Order: sequence, then structure tokens, then C-alpha cells
Amino acid sequence: MAKASANYVCAACSNATTKWAGRCEACGAWNTISEEAPLSKAGPAKKSLGGRGRAVPLTDLSSTEPAPPRVASGLSELDRVLGGGLVPSSAILVGGDPGIGKSTLLLQGAAMFARAGLKVIYASGEEASAQVRMRAQRLGLADAPVKLAAETNLRDILTTLEQERPDLVIIDSIQTMWSDNVESAPGSVSQVRAAAHELTSFAKRSGMSVILVGHVTKDGQIAGPRVVEHMVDTVLYFEGERGHQFRILRAVKNRFGPADEIGVFEMTGAGLAEVTNPSALFLSERGQPSPGSVVFAGIEGTRPVLCELQALVAPSPHSQPRRTVVGWDGGRLAMILAVLEARCGIPFAGLDVYLNVAGGMKISEPAADLAVAAALLSAREDVALPPETVVFGEISLSGALRPVSQTENRLKEAQKLGFTSAIAPSGGKAGAATGMKLQQMGDLTAFVGDLFGAG
Ligand code: TYD
Ligand code: MG
Repeated sequence: MAKASANYVCAACSNATTKWAGRCEACGAWNTISEEAPLSKAGPAKKSLGGRGRAVPLTDLSSTEPAPPRVASGLSELDRVLGGGLVPSSAILVGGDPGIGKSTLLLQGAAMFARAGLKVIYASGEEASAQVRMRAQRLGLADAPVKLAAETNLRDILTTLEQERPDLVIIDSIQTMWSDNVESAPGSVSQVRAAAHELTSFAKRSGMSVILVGHVTKDGQIAGPRVVEHMVDTVLYFEGERGHQFRILRAVKNRFGPADEIGVFEMTGAGLAEVTNPSALFLSERGQPSPGSVVFAGIEGTRPVLCELQALVAPSPHSQPRRTVVGWDGGRLAMILAVLEARCGIPFAGLDVYLNVAGGMKISEPAADLAVAAALLSAREDVALPPETVVFGEISLSGALRPVSQTENRLKEAQKLGFTSAIAPSGGKAGAATGMKLQQMGDLTAFVGDLFGAG
């Protein structure tokens, strides 16, 4: 009698609710909620209800089985983001906007892993084998021993995998796969979840690694990669601005390595090229020191990355001045503006504020606070910062500057790129970066007084 409670799921963020709504309460997206078939319909579990389960063999934590070795592809930026290579029987999700270069990256990865000795299958649900082959030729990878399959039926793919027993399979994309156990259309939340679940559990059982490609979707008809994030070991996002050639592969979750690690690539006519020194790349377009431009010494994952912040502050013609941010968090900008106003008496009312991280980079570290403040002040006062200077530090609401991690690494990277001085919060240790002139300050008022002679 009791009907299973209907389950509605948002395709963008996978938030579940008991009733339908036009707008998702969790992520605010419109028209993304649809009904999901209850999982019990699909599962084979019905028969065994009430019966006894099978005892599972238990092992100790101190088991002496050696960990299986990781396999490095030789594409060092990819290996770095994976935590040092591919872990056997791991499940990896690679998400990103359509057209950003996911298929290109994974075809290159597949070829490199195949050359490193793995048996690799590339299953494409989006392109015909001929198209994939053409791309491989263009990338100079046609000789790599990768097996192709153009297929979207999950049952057929699993049967093939069972026979072939590859070491790595790439599913491009998970949204095109459909399982005949599930009634809804390909791309729906239930289909994507069922396909991801079957593939990852097959991977765990058989010792095969699987890479799932997921498109980030804007409309609600197709489930986004977030609905499978919890099922996989590693979640990578491939990001970048369409107008820029830089692409950043970012680990947001990794059971086998540091999260927040990034790999930097450049999209060229012959595929993705690795960028081993991203700082040099992000700063390469820098000209003379100019007001509003500040170099931030940041840390991305385990690696220091220098990038340029640009601010523009101009009188606003609008009653409500604009605050526009590219590559940084808008809420954090509002906070810095409020601290500058409340603690240093520098108002931004009536002024439009634009902030841009050059090169298409996205920064999430609070250590960029001080660099942002420096860029804003420099733009507002129309005074350029001393040349060859990097800035970093976190700003607290009281206006105090808080030390950030890895001061030494930030300074060493800056020194390597020809910078001679740094502005940082008191408390950090310069360590071996001895050649750098380090100006340490305890609060924002001292910083404003020192650099702009005003308070
Ligand atoms: P693709 O890998 O198909 O994107 P996704 O799988 O994420 O949808 O990449 C598509 C874009 O990459 C396309 O706009 C063309 C560009 N591209 C190059 O610039 N150079 C190349 O060598 C290749 C293969 C693609
Ligand atoms: Mg693609």
C-alpha cells in the first residue's frame, strides 16, 4: 500500500527534495528538478530479501600486501594532478564545460598510458570512432595502441570490458551512457548515477581504472558531473576561459593525493601542451608597472604560482556602483572593500570597482586578500606599486594581516622569476629565500601608510 515517496533531484547539484519546484533551493538553478525513479526498481536485490547474506572475508589494517604501483603517463601535468600517476582500480571523474578540451586531454592521456604499457579502451558516446581517429592523427598519436569503441549502451560496454580486461577505460561522456535497467532518458540524473555506479563498481571488482568524462551543464535536462562526485575516488575539473589558451586541470577531491593540485596546459593547434612553469606563463604578458596591477605569490596545491591581479577603480555613473570580479570571489571582494573603508577610512562609495586575475586563472586562496587590497588602492590612488614586488597575506575583519602558509616557497618562486622584494604579513619565515627584501606588516593601516602615504 505504502507508495515509495517520490524523489525529486536537481540535475545541477543533485540536491534531493520531496516535491517538485521550479527553482532549486540549494543551488538556485531554474528548471533543473525532475523526478527520479527509486533506486530499488533497478537493483537486483529483491530476490535476496529475507535470505541470509554471505560472510565477507575480513583483513587487517596491517596486511602485508604491497600497494600496487602507480603508473605514470609521462604527461607530467596530468600525473601531478592524479597525485603522481594512475592508481589501479581507481575511479576518476573529469568535469568541465563543453568544448574546453576534455576529450583532447583524455585522448592524449589514453595514448600516453597505452605507450606506458597499459591496455587502454577509449569508449566514446559522443563521437564516431572515425572522428576520434582523425583527432588522434592530428595530435600525432595515431600509432598509440589504444582501442576505440563508439558505444552508448552500458551493458554492451560492460560485456566488452569483461572480455577485454583492460587496465584503463575512458568513458566519454558519462551523460551519453544509458543502462537498460533504468527507465529514464540518457543524461537524466538516474541514468547518469546508474551508469557511474555500474562502471565504478566494475572497476573496483576487476582492478581496472575508469575515467568518466562529465560535461558541466547549464540547463536542467542533463545531469551535471556533480551528481557522481561522491561515487568516485578522484574529481578533476578542467577549466579555463574560452578566449585564453590556458587550461587548468584542478583536483577538487583525491583519495590518492593532495586535493587542490593543479596542472596547467596550453591549447595549441596540435593539442594540449604541458606548461611546466605556470608562473612564467601567467606573467609573460606583463609590461611596465602600472597602477592597479599587482603580482600575487600564490600556492596552488603543492606548487607556487605567481599571477597578476588587475584592478580598475573609476567614478560610477550609476546610483549603485558596479563590483565586477573575474577569477576571484565576489563576496571576498566586498569584504576587502568593507575592511578598507571601516579600518583605514578609504571609501569606495560612488566608485565602480573591477578586479581581474590575468591569464584566465582562478584564485581561491585567502592569501590573495592583501594583493587584492594593494591592487584596489593602487588603482584608486593611481600610484603604481614598486616594481619587482610580490604581495601576499590574509586580511582579517579587524584589519590585521594574518600570516599564510609556505612563505618560503612563495618567496623562492618570486626570486626565481626575478622579483626582488615582497610585502607579507609579520610572522612568516623567509627561510632560504635570502635574496628577497621582505617587508613585513602587522595590519592594513601600516600597509596603506607605507605604500601610499595615506591612512
Ligand atoms: P574537445 O576536447 O572536443 O572538448 P570537450 O571534449 O571538452 O567538449 O576540445 C574542443 C576544442 O579544442 C575545440 O574548440 C578545438 C580545440 N582544439 C584545439 O585547439 N587544438 C587541438 O589540437 C584540438 C584537438 C582541439
Ligand atoms: Mg568531448
